Amino acid sequence: MGERVQIGPCLLIHADCRSVMDAFADADLLMSDPPYGVDSNTEGRGRGGQSLKGIVTKGRGFRKIDGDKEPFDPSPWLSYPKVVLWGGNHFCSRLPDAAGWIVWDKRCGVAPDDNADCEMAWTNLPGVARIHRQLWKGLIRAGEENIARSGGKLHPHQKPVALHEFVIRRAKLQPGSLIADPFMGSASIGKAAIRLGMRYVGCETDREHFETAVRSIRAEWEAHVASPSLFAEPTAKAKAPDLFGDSHAAA
Ligand SMILES: C[S@@+](CC[C@H](N)C(=O)[O-])C[C@H]1O[C@@H](n2cnc3c(N)ncnc32)[C@H](O)[C@@H]1O
Repeated sequence: MGERVQIGPCLLIHADCRSVMDAFADADLLMSDPPYGVDSNTEGRGRGGQSLKGIVTKGRGFRKIDGDKEPFDPSPWLSYPKVVLWGGNHFCSRLPDAAGWIVWDKRCGVAPDDNADCEMAWTNLPGVARIHRQLWKGLIRAGEENIARSGGKLHPHQKPVALHEFVIRRAKLQPGSLIADPFMGSASIGKAAIRLGMRYVGCETDREHFETAVRSIRAEWEAHVASPSLFAEPTAKAKAPDLFGDSHAAA
């Protein structure tokens, strides 16, 4: 069943997502960034930190990502009305043909290095392939996740909230739609969901990442409630509908 924490319109579950499939049943959009099955080196991905003079330093790395050693099987996630799966290029032989891929250009013209220039999401959304451009090179990050502003990495595979906002807009959801994110990480998708007036259910198996997600979503929701006018889109209802009856613990 897993620990469940409800924060505003977001339900966060600490569990193996395959054991809580019911939680995702009513999703209008299944959007997630799963382990790609590439056994990536997360120990080398520093969290960042700041010296007294505000100079960004490399912090300690992260543990290995759960499930990243086995090939990723997307089949349980393909039957939802709208689906976005990051890393689709790593498991495209197990995905249907699609036109609407989304490409995140992480270099924006900066000279390439050993890391990928872009990341790709498979989608079943109608329309053509689209590009989101946002510089993201190690600890150099454009936007709100800039290390000097945010203080460090929340997750070794953290993605920008602005990228998720771009993708959710592409999905053309009604306000209050439910976004399911079975491989939640630090809940960057959940933050975008709040900003765009959506409901969100996220699941994470790793205790440390789950706790990061809870802190991150709580801060985002508190900021949203305190200053709803900062957000251009319709806001989520102050009290979200109870998605799961009385079966979860309120935070
Ligand atoms: C690529 S990361 C997601 C990072 C996220 N995009 C972010 O911005 O923070 C995938 C996450 O899925 C989690 N995970 C792996 N297998 C899982 C499973 N079976 N159920 C739930 N979470 C899982 C991992 O612990 C990891 O945090």
